[in-house]
Amino acid sequence: MKIKKKIPLIDQHDEFGFWGEKFGGSFIPETLKKPIEDLTKEFKKLRNDQKFLSKKNFYFKNFIGQPTSFVKLNNLTNHFGGAQIWAKIVSEANGGAHKIYNATVHALICKAMGKKYIVGDTGAGYAGKMLSMAAKKFGLKCKIFMGAKDIKRQKPNCDAIRKNGAEIVPVYSGSQTLVDAVSECMRYWVSNCDNTHMCVGSTVGPNIFVKICGWSTSQISKELKKQIIFEFKKIPKKIKLINCVGGGSSAYGFWSEFIDYNKKQIELIGVEAGGPKKSLLHAAPLSRNAKIGILHGAASYVCQNNEGQIKETESISAGLDYPGVSPLHCFLKDTKRARYTYATDEEALNAYKIIRKFENLNPSLEPCHAFAEAIKIAPRLSKETIIVVNSCGDANKDKNILKKRLGSIYDK
Ligand SMILES: Cc1ncc(COP(=O)(O)O)c(C=O)c1O
Repeated sequence: MKIKKKIPLIDQHDEFGFWGEKFGGSFIPETLKKPIEDLTKEFKKLRNDQKFLSKKNFYFKNFIGQPTSFVKLNNLTNHFGGAQIWAKIVSEANGGAHKIYNATVHALICKAMGKKYIVGDTGAGYAGKMLSMAAKKFGLKCKIFMGAKDIKRQKPNCDAIRKNGAEIVPVYSGSQTLVDAVSECMRYWVSNCDNTHMCVGSTVGPNIFVKICGWSTSQISKELKKQIIFEFKKIPKKIKLINCVGGGSSAYGFWSEFIDYNKKQIELIGVEAGGPKKSLLHAAPLSRNAKIGILHGAASYVCQNNEGQIKETESISAGLDYPGVSPLHCFLKDTKRARYTYATDEEALNAYKIIRKFENLNPSLEPCHAFAEAIKIAPRLSKETIIVVNSCGDANKDKNILKKRLGSIYDK
């Protein structure tokens, strides 16, 4: 199993849609065969169509507001005294997170396919908020499927979804989180695919959804590469790109331009949700050695019990609270190109406290998992090492949780 050079990882699957022969694929019901085939053909055409690309680039600039900034966190760096800590502030993108790239591209594809309705899943509410923004922008009717537990804990994003005119469909089955929302959204699409387009909110799901999402979010690393070369005049000798991993879209988007580099020069570190310290539950299939299973139409490492049933997950971060993960990351793990670890709820909260103390940054609980790893490794690294954390979400959506767990720090 090897990674090929100079070919985007999203395109390195075999004829059956598998990365490394084991991960991905398209496990779909018969009724979805035709819509998935149509979408696959349409995406193949659009990604090579200059008119579509110009439109996409126009909206990336004028709707999303690229590029997001790349900054050195001086106070944090000085405090820990080791590696330089930098951040790409992807939360500056319109709406406050990276999910806007995938949502915008899906809305444009939906328009190109002549469909008027768009549906999507959400956990942290960002994928839903962004899809509702893109739907409003392009005049589409939008439904967002969201677990009832997440509706309660991510109220600010739910308010935004409704303000944008989209309907939230609460999902009461299972753990009432992202995994159930994706299932319910897919079920709805099966019966409505003639006039409705589905946006999967991460690099998960049947092969084509992994590709579209990866293609859209790779904008982040294209910008970052230019910004790194601008700051350092070259790609430095030792860089560590640290990203949280739920389904894996922000991590793939952050890394895609750097996968071809030697891992001694550019280390890719993915941080999953370790859950509460005292709990046996977590959402870390890669770093806690889950077995391969099928979830949402694709094969990946999945948290499951001995009978192969999907296991309940637990995390303070709704966006990372998902038992599966992108086949792209499974492939990166097995080829040892990326290293995966996890941070507990408590470590993520502690990272939030530290960031708020030293910097003018307000990262949501998802990127706080990545900051937790940065804080752990920075002190023992040399000053020549550059750590870059993807600060991919804004904490406004988490303000109630943060106030409850950390008191008034959120308001300071
Ligand atoms: C801000 C933020 N970061 C990360 C994630 C995790 O998803 P992914 O791994 O697909 O980026 C989410 C998911 O909702 C999110 O809202």
